[in-house]
Amino acid sequence: MKVDDIKQVTVIGSGTMGNGICHVFAQCGYKVNLVDTNQDILDRAVGTIKKNMERQVKKEKITGDQMNAALANITPGTDLNVARDSQLVIEAIFENLEVKLQLFKELDTICTEGTILASNTSSLPITQLAGVTERADQVIGMHFMNPVPMMKLIELIRGIATSDDTFNTIKELSIKLGKTPVEVNDYPGFIANRILMPMINEAAFALMEGVATEESIDTVMKLGMAHPMGPLTLADFIGLDVCLAILDVLYEGYGDPKYRPCPLLKKMVQAGYLGRKTGRGFYKYE
Ligand code: NAI
Repeated sequence: MKVDDIKQVTVIGSGTMGNGICHVFAQCGYKVNLVDTNQDILDRAVGTIKKNMERQVKKEKITGDQMNAALANITPGTDLNVARDSQLVIEAIFENLEVKLQLFKELDTICTEGTILASNTSSLPITQLAGVTERADQVIGMHFMNPVPMMKLIELIRGIATSDDTFNTIKELSIKLGKTPVEVNDYPGFIANRILMPMINEAAFALMEGVATEESIDTVMKLGMAHPMGPLTLADFIGLDVCLAILDVLYEGYGDPKYRPCPLLKKMVQAGYLGRKTGRGFYKYE
């Protein structure tokens, strides 16, 4: 598959990441099928995309005509079989290995021979997802960052069997989308989370041990290291449950105690203090 052969894309999962990925492809002129499990979720996703594009119009990044053309490229629906006519399918469903394996198996039977299957997973092994298909050479990780329309980076994860053809096509495609692709091999946490999560974990340990307050820890990293936000604020944004799940993947994947999740982080997740989404994490939110 060459990059110019890709005309139609199916994005599965229309949550935070799926609607952002759909937004970027539609704006770049691709026909996009956006698939989720029910119509209400899809309506909400399309509403979010429209709102985000209207913001771009207001900021004069795109024109109203461009917005309308992009929105017209999107076809929402609940039938997975639409993936049959796509040259690329990007999976952005819940971070659950069993559910993703099942979906990849299904996609492998639905899609035509040349279709590339990509996953936006933050931490699950691309090699394992590829392993349940008959096209492991055409499976790749496309790890977009949140919010997708704003963030330049995309980690391209090569599974053990990902072919050079697949990799190069997706690399060119990423550049066409205005992103900066970075090649990463398939090891737990890839690069982004392998480096980010231990930093967040260490910040939680520092807090647990009473080394400094939440605000002090975040201020040190913001003003001292020029990070746009401190690690505890960032963890609240990402969700403490998500951070813990990724740390578990690192801990299990490498079998190295340096990745052991901080007991305070575990306790907060047990309490339902998951960050912004529950109104309380390291900080409280109105
Ligand atoms: P989310 O929970 O916002 O959205 C997931 C969507 O998938 C939901 O709308 C759900 O209804 C749908 N879904 C679940 N099972 C499905 C199925 N079998 N078929 C069709 N739709 C299905 O999740 P989010 O945050 O968008 O994450 C999606 C993926 O992206 C995960 O693998 C996550 O690890 C990854 N990711 C998340 C980032 C983030 O900052 N939220 C950053 C980078 C990657």
